[in-house]
Amino acid sequence: MDPFFFIQLADPQFGMFARWGGESDEVIEAQLLKGNKIRKAPPITGFADESRLFSEAISEANRLKPAFVVVCGDMVNDPNSEAERAEVFRIAGQLDPGIPIHWVPGNHDIGADTVSATPDSLRVYRDAFGPDYYAFQHGGASFLVLDSITIDNPGPVPGEWEAQLAFIENELAAAVSRGGPIVAFSHHPPFLKTPDEPDDYWNMPLERREPLLRLLREAGAQAVFAGHWHRNNHASYGDMHVVASGPVGYPLGDDPSGYRVVKVHPDRVEHDYYGFGNGPDSVTL
Ligand SMILES: [Fe+2]
Repeated sequence: MDPFFFIQLADPQFGMFARWGGESDEVIEAQLLKGNKIRKAPPITGFADESRLFSEAISEANRLKPAFVVVCGDMVNDPNSEAERAEVFRIAGQLDPGIPIHWVPGNHDIGADTVSATPDSLRVYRDAFGPDYYAFQHGGASFLVLDSITIDNPGPVPGEWEAQLAFIENELAAAVSRGGPIVAFSHHPPFLKTPDEPDDYWNMPLERREPLLRLLREAGAQAVFAGHWHRNNHASYGDMHVVASGPVGYPLGDDPSGYRVVKVHPDRVEHDYYGFGNGPDSVTL
């Protein structure tokens, strides 16, 4: 196979600047104790900041011409906002029609309460964005999109985790028999520091994280790319990269809003994160 590259985006999260605008010093301090850097700002309505930043991401993709763009979830802040979704699609519509875009569900897209999906919220998501988990191939490599909200909290959507797990097993077996690199995408990173770290808001619960990591590693997957943390994080499971990327939208740490360029080679993936305004002139493989 010939090497190629794609652009990974995460968390454009239309509406998040407004969510955190106008917060008191006390709330900002309480968030800081949890590790989240909220920026002091006057009250904000609408999503002009998100529109500007997501437009920047799309124009970088149009300039660099990746094989595809993948958006690793939290396209919107409010899963019930038609206006936020419409703006996501309006701006995504400015992507060069020759560049496919792949959506990955985030907890704010598919979680009825921004945490857990319900049969209804799954239906709304699938109607708007398409399947919540699926596979695709490009240039001799296999890609797997996961619904990490169902992985995080399968209880309210009976049968969904079991169906997704069977799908993952089948798709990984097919990818192994085709040969070529395997890369997975999810919204929640499986873990941030260590594969056996305790469950928390930012990772996948161990009960389902373990079998998932085992399946991916046994298949020889090169990497899992995720978002959700609104900061960059690079961990590994054996030889597999476990990466969370900074946000297109609202940052919760020191990493700026930006995007990740991922180069796919027959035997490895290489990836770099770029803040908007600091992108490469071009991507060399
Ligand atoms: Fe998220």
